[in-house]
Amino acid sequence: MTLNLVFLGPPGVGKGTYAEALSKRYNIPHISTGDIFREEIRKGTELGKKVKSYVERGELVPDEIVIEVVKKRLSQPDCERGFILDGFPRTLNQAIALDKITKIDLAFNFVAPKSVIIERLSGRRICKRCGAIYHVKFNPPKKPGICDVCGGPLYQREDDKPEVIEERLKIYERQSAPIVDYYRKKGILVEVDASRSKEEVIKNCEDILKARGLLH
Ligand code: AP5
Repeated sequence: MTLNLVFLGPPGVGKGTYAEALSKRYNIPHISTGDIFREEIRKGTELGKKVKSYVERGELVPDEIVIEVVKKRLSQPDCERGFILDGFPRTLNQAIALDKITKIDLAFNFVAPKSVIIERLSGRRICKRCGAIYHVKFNPPKKPGICDVCGGPLYQREDDKPEVIEERLKIYERQSAPIVDYYRKKGILVEVDASRSKEEVIKNCEDILKARGLLH
């Protein structure tokens, strides 16, 4: 049985945090298009050079580039038992393209008020070495600025600056409704209140998966 999941929701709602936890627990890869792009930018690859300006301004990378990246990633052997797609699809075109690549079992739509999202994004810190996600208030590392998992240095993302956060939220509001409707019409959309604690949100996701017969 496969577990092919899509995580939808605004920037900073916690998609990466919940995906990381569920991916470890159920041993399926967490695929974040944002993480893939940041890694390519860091390594200075051709793809990284192409997407850098979009990512740093908080704008969407063109569909043809993102779809190609996801298609390639989903063809890897570790996706055979399933995957969690975080941050993809972000346009209707991407959602339609995804259906041509594979079958999605469930799409989680994480929702939280704007004030919660802004607070989460402004305090987010990420490990430069292993990508673990922290928050200065809600999930602080044991030693400030140092990753608990690998000892790497923590940094603030370029696009977590206040003016870029506003731009990302505006783009999200414009693009999200058709995708949510797309999955709702297919009968595979579930809404999750992500304003609660990380543990409560993750538990809620697991309960939903069990109720749908996707987890045992
Ligand atoms: P991407 O990396 O996907 O960014 P995003 O969607 O803006 O999402 P975030 O990573 O900001 O938020 P998240 O929901 O994962 O929150 P997190 O778990 O970190 O994309 C970046 C860029 O890449 C885009 O702007 C675009 O340029 C490009 N791109 C990517 N995909 C694309 C696509 N498909 N098409 C076109 N372009 C694309 O949590 C946030 C913080 O809150 C953390 O500090 C965390 O510790 C904390 N937190 C999380 N949950 C809780 C909780 N329940 N309670 C308290 N704190 C919490």
